[in-house]
Amino acid sequence: MKKPLPEEIGVSVTGRGDAVTYGPERKKEPAPEPGLPLLVFGATGRTGRCLVEQALAAGHRVTAFARDTRALPPAHARLRHIQGRVEDASAVEDAVKNHHAVLCALGPTGRKDAEAIARGTENIVAAMQRHQVWRLIYVPFHEQGDGWGPAALFDKLMARFRPRTNTSGWQQRVEVIRESALEWVIVRPTRLTDAAASGRHQVSIDQGKVPLRIARADLAAFMLEQLRSPRYVRKSPVIGG
Ligand SMILES: NC(=O)c1ccc[n+]([C@@H]2O[C@H](COP(=O)([O-])OP(=O)(O)OC[C@H]3O[C@@H](n4cnc5c(N)ncnc54)[C@H](OP(=O)(O)O)[C@@H]3O)[C@@H](O)[C@H]2O)c1
Repeated sequence: MKKPLPEEIGVSVTGRGDAVTYGPERKKEPAPEPGLPLLVFGATGRTGRCLVEQALAAGHRVTAFARDTRALPPAHARLRHIQGRVEDASAVEDAVKNHHAVLCALGPTGRKDAEAIARGTENIVAAMQRHQVWRLIYVPFHEQGDGWGPAALFDKLMARFRPRTNTSGWQQRVEVIRESALEWVIVRPTRLTDAAASGRHQVSIDQGKVPLRIARADLAAFMLEQLRSPRYVRKSPVIGG
């Protein structure tokens, strides 16, 4: 007699060879992946708000860290606000505890913010290592000097219109991440726009061409994809869309 296939007897076989029974409802709709506890720095910013909204929509539990919590996305049952500054090591340490991953979309909105963010990045990395929160998805603010592939020329042109910030502080904070034991992904977007999400993006990790702009909503979606994927861990992908 022919051996019945698993689907004929209502049994699914997992990768480890264990047999798992399931009913007809389970067959129609696989259980969603459980939400993760996530901490977002820069949550009042334009990318940060996209991160919070998309993370909540995906079922995650989100802690939003901000200097001014009144500027955060509206209340939600799975959204917690923490008021603080990234340069305050104890505020960062308290915030980092008990999270699965950290998403960081900090960028200077004032003249002194670049140095504050450099110190803040050190605080975030140190606290994550201390509390064994391993996954960090980080967007650096672009500065002339890094020259990330196709965006480099545009960066050079735009640099003269941006507030002067501390380049050495910028390099320092990226190195702090690269030299850490964390599972980091440093995501380097080309020019950011406020366009609606397109659902498309192109990624390069070897100076290959990608589009010279990307919607913040698509950047946020890519960052959230990196929470469970090993693909770009300890890499610095350039992303355009
Ligand atoms: N624009 C581009 O084309 C482009 C291209 C590539 C990369 N990037 C980089 O991508 C990142 C995200 O960009 P974006 O436009 O979404 O940023 P954004 O709207 O300017 O938001 C920056 C966020 O950082 C926060 N922040 C600044 N200093 C802080 C501090 N000391 N403590 C706590 N929070 C602080 C701001 O908080 P407040 O609300 O309190 O100010 C805000 O939430 C930035 O680093 C940007 O430079 C931009």
